[in-house]
Amino acid sequence: LNKADVVKHILRDREQTPGHKGSAFAPANIALVKYWGKSNTELNVPMTDSISVSLGSLGAQTTLCVRDRGDDFVMLDGKEVSSQSSFYQRVKKYLDLFRSPLSPFFEVETCSSVPVAAGLASSASGFAALAKALDDLFGWGLDGRELSILARLGSGSACRSVYDGFVWWKRGQSMDGMDSYAEQMNVEWPSFRIGLLELSTREKAVGSREAMQRTIETSHLYSAWPEQVASDLDDLREGLEHRDIERVGRVAEHNALTMHATMISAWPPVLYWLPESVEILHRVWKAREEGTPVYATMDAGPNVKLLFEKNADQSVISLFPNLKIVD
Ligand code: DP6
Repeated sequence: LNKADVVKHILRDREQTPGHKGSAFAPANIALVKYWGKSNTELNVPMTDSISVSLGSLGAQTTLCVRDRGDDFVMLDGKEVSSQSSFYQRVKKYLDLFRSPLSPFFEVETCSSVPVAAGLASSASGFAALAKALDDLFGWGLDGRELSILARLGSGSACRSVYDGFVWWKRGQSMDGMDSYAEQMNVEWPSFRIGLLELSTREKAVGSREAMQRTIETSHLYSAWPEQVASDLDDLREGLEHRDIERVGRVAEHNALTMHATMISAWPPVLYWLPESVEILHRVWKAREEGTPVYATMDAGPNVKLLFEKNADQSVISLFPNLKIVD
């Protein structure tokens, strides 16, 4: 099964005639138990489940319409994206899945409110917003499960950006990934805070897609990862149920560091950390020793994200004055 088969299966006999315009917003998300490794690289079916928290109003707002000639036209934050860029190529390849004689090309306009330097996967909110905008353009009326599967075909983590709040992506059992989608968890936690520390705007040398594949292929430590994730998922679920920041923070930080350990032990090694990233980790640990419950997580980049509760925000801000708190 390939991506086109999955799209056909989901859309079945739904409307092929596009409307005038489609638009949608999708939030960025940060994984607390990470997605790292695929069992199917074509369909972005993951090796394990993962859990994330969405970033509210930080995300991608996408508008879409059909063009009947030329080529796809892509705008990002008000600027035309070059057809030579990898961003354009990735969007185009995704749109290939949705072309028909009535929709030969598309015009896509995306505005991202995610701070570029914060090292948040723009692909997650981007592909989730694109899937939702396509649904709006064609009037398919897809449900959350179907949108999540479509978003996953663009980028794995995008399947979690279909929802707000805490989100659980079930890896599923079937080879075609039809049961691999995200669902919103029943957790209300208004005082949970995420802080972004912007360190580097440099384009990363190795993308997460390549890094996770290299880890699977060359790191002996990877075999321990699925087991760690299984216990972290249970631990995190319970922590979230009790809104226990110490437990949630501990699981998230431990999980992120374990993920990085697997990629550092790949060959050639993948080490996203800068000296400043390590320095921040030390400051986080010192803050905890001194009684502030603050925890760190990191993704495929050098930036550090902090997890804490509202009642600690004053002490966290005084320790990390550059922190951008997500509201
Ligand atoms: C470290 O979703 O960007 O952010 O499926 O290849 O597009 P592809 O990968 P992507 O990987 C995200 C990896 C991560 C962890 C996470 O978000 O769970």
